[in-house]
Amino acid sequence: MEKFDVGVIGGGPGGYSSATRLAQAGKKVVLFEKDNLGGVCLNEGCIPTKTLLMTAKTLELFKHAKDFGIAVADVCADHKAVLARKARVVRKLVGGVKLQLKNCGATVVKGEALVEKADGDGVTVRCGEVEYLVDDVILATGSVPVLPRIEGAADALASGFALTSKELLDIESVPQRLTVIGGGVIGLEMAAYFCAMGASVTVIEMLSQIGGAVDCTVAKTLQTVMEKKGVTFLLDSKVTQIAENGVRYENADGEGFIESDKVLLCVGRKPNFCSVSPEVGVATERGAVLTDDKMRTNIAHIYAIGDLNAKIMLAHTAYREGEVAVHTILGVDDTMRYDIIPSVIYTNPEAACVGVTEQDAQKKGLNFRCVNVSMNYSGRYVAESYSQEGFVKLIVDNDSNKLIGVHILGSYAGEIITTAEVFIGKSFDIEEIKKIVFPHPTVCEVLKEALFEL
Ligand code: NAI
Repeated sequence: MEKFDVGVIGGGPGGYSSATRLAQAGKKVVLFEKDNLGGVCLNEGCIPTKTLLMTAKTLELFKHAKDFGIAVADVCADHKAVLARKARVVRKLVGGVKLQLKNCGATVVKGEALVEKADGDGVTVRCGEVEYLVDDVILATGSVPVLPRIEGAADALASGFALTSKELLDIESVPQRLTVIGGGVIGLEMAAYFCAMGASVTVIEMLSQIGGAVDCTVAKTLQTVMEKKGVTFLLDSKVTQIAENGVRYENADGEGFIESDKVLLCVGRKPNFCSVSPEVGVATERGAVLTDDKMRTNIAHIYAIGDLNAKIMLAHTAYREGEVAVHTILGVDDTMRYDIIPSVIYTNPEAACVGVTEQDAQKKGLNFRCVNVSMNYSGRYVAESYSQEGFVKLIVDNDSNKLIGVHILGSYAGEIITTAEVFIGKSFDIEEIKKIVFPHPTVCEVLKEALFEL
């Protein structure tokens, strides 16, 4: 039996970062990964998608080249070359994670690990023929796509007519007609790439807005911008069947059918709870491992982070939850906060949000006010952009006169949202924020400008 201080199961963002932090703190760590280090994020999610979306953005920029005083002839994109670049980017980053783990002295074991026992002696983890005894375990096994119970979906997946984002990211050629089931984050980012590459894209969403829980103004404006680029949206529409050559749906107008060459299924993800024997007794609710704000499960010395606890399924949530778990193991007081986790949709323009949305504030009956300021308040934005639709929306609690939500649509949104997160997270007073000096010209300045419009 091999002995370690901590075992980490799953080598995605939550797992590899936790293993690194623990090893840096002097713990003897073993990380188990059955597939590739980097998990869904690096191998088949965030990073590959961003690589594709960079091509989409560049293509769009070329279309506006004349505005920037550049004559460009014969712009054409090569999807296979895009895939090759994606593979290089992924290889580089996965290599970086491997090196980071090696440099800090963490042991990486390739294989499927199972927590078999947790008692006074420690936690027993089996991987293949080898048993490991560890003091603490961090479960970080992520999530898998939800496969909807739609007639024909299983057959369509088996035949390759329907795909999840994992397979679509590797598709060899751009389908002529792509139907996307689910207008959430994956649906929007995939629609943005394939539309830019010339596919005719239809997104079918059963709710009345795209982007899930994003602020209503962001959702509406993003939808309008994407429609102008050629994406068709069918909202309040329920898919009833995936047939051999298309998708059947129903909505208030009746039934419809969209002929398709490929169908993307992206209706959410569910926790992948696979690495603990039932006898251990780790509590779950609807498949998600229950955790407290220290990332502890109901079983002492077993922690669960990332998509596995389904609190907020984003890579950066997993990073932070990993830090909290690591601190708790090291005896450092730390607590997870979910109210200030930002989110970004990497369409063009990109959307970034933190804090409450207008619809949240209304539902909660808060006494609040909103201000909406065009991104054109920023000189840099106007100088560098061809898009007119960008805005910053601030939501302020009237009782405390503090910012409670910031929602941005426009280039750099994902980069400047952290500033808003700090303002909200640290409960800065609006008058104090107004005194902060922002470099000029930057896009971030628009945050400060918006405050003066309140
Ligand atoms: P999602 O939960 O964001 O969106 C799924 C959408 O599908 C929802 O709007 C839902 O109403 C709709 N839907 C469900 N069943 C449907 C049906 N039968 N017909 C039509 N619409 C239906 O899930 P998504 O897009 O699959 O993403 C999965 C996870 O990955 C999410 O947690 C997301 O946050 C994360 N992710 C984050 C990214 C980012 O941060 N930029 C990028 C990609 C994924």
